[in-house]
Amino acid sequence: MRGDSSGPARRERADFRNAAAGTKQVATILHISDLHFGPPFVERVGEALLRIVPRLEPDVIVASGDFTQRAKVEQFELARQFLDRLPDVPLVVVPGNHDVPLYRIRERLFEPYRLYRQYIAPELDYKVELDGLVIVALNSTSPVRTIVNGRIDEEQLEYCSRAFADAHPEAAKIVVAHHHFAPAPDFVRDQVMPKAKRAMDRFVSLGVDVVLGGHLHRAYIGNSLDVYPGRDREHGVIIVQCGTTTSRRGRGREREKNTFNLLSVGPTTLRVTHFMYFDDLDGFAPLSSHLFPRPGHLIPHETRGPHEAQGPHETRGPQQAQGTGTTSGDSPPTAR
Ligand SMILES: [Fe+2]
Ligand SMILES: [Fe+2]
Repeated sequence: MRGDSSGPARRERADFRNAAAGTKQVATILHISDLHFGPPFVERVGEALLRIVPRLEPDVIVASGDFTQRAKVEQFELARQFLDRLPDVPLVVVPGNHDVPLYRIRERLFEPYRLYRQYIAPELDYKVELDGLVIVALNSTSPVRTIVNGRIDEEQLEYCSRAFADAHPEAAKIVVAHHHFAPAPDFVRDQVMPKAKRAMDRFVSLGVDVVLGGHLHRAYIGNSLDVYPGRDREHGVIIVQCGTTTSRRGRGREREKNTFNLLSVGPTTLRVTHFMYFDDLDGFAPLSSHLFPRPGHLIPHETRGPHEAQGPHETRGPQQAQGTGTTSGDSPPTAR
């Protein structure tokens, strides 16, 4: 389903992708989220996404939850039809809090994932291994314990440990979950999952390269060190949160906006390009690009001498996408 793969057309697509990604690649990951099929879904934006994705030639597509608005059969059907129109590459998915019934209490309590499993994916926690990548998908929804927020329990962290245990040393280790493990450091208040810091510490110890998520309805591209203490860069994990790719539920600085991320995983670096939908283009275009060193590596142009490794003038790779500020986790949860 990648279309014409010969000659100039293919080169043009490759140039487009390289210009967007800007680095030598091992693997390209398209990261979309919060499609919200149902009333919030914006058809023209969805069509724009379907037009651009083949040109980006992703090796894998990650969709980090909230496929529907109210977990209804017809919304799951539309979501499934949409996913089937994406290029035929591996698709990694996790459920979001909107993918379990909210008001249908019996279903919520006794079979919360029935429709999700039927239409989106049968598994909830699982591992996908691709050339150069190990991706662990974790179900962060917890229909019985919480409504909007999520949970990751110790068992799931143990699963992560086992899943990454036999990964090739060079492979990028990627975790996908709908809910965020660190609050975005902007001016919108968000409640992280209970024990989110514990999970992030575990990811650090496992050498996880990047955590992908959604739920916030605005992008946040940064590092856990933006919000959690740590004594050096190796104690941070790159965080890539995706805005809502196709719904009118954008929030904060992405209010009424639609975005997705393109990750280019190289041998030593990870580049994240943030795409936004623009009305005048009737399409998505890159808005910014963020280069990070992968664990144990440096970013280009960076030198690490004996005295500059931790020096104040060192250029740090982990940078947040937009805006800084303080965010505390004590505000009431907001439905997303
Ligand atoms: Fe959500
Ligand atoms: Fe959402």
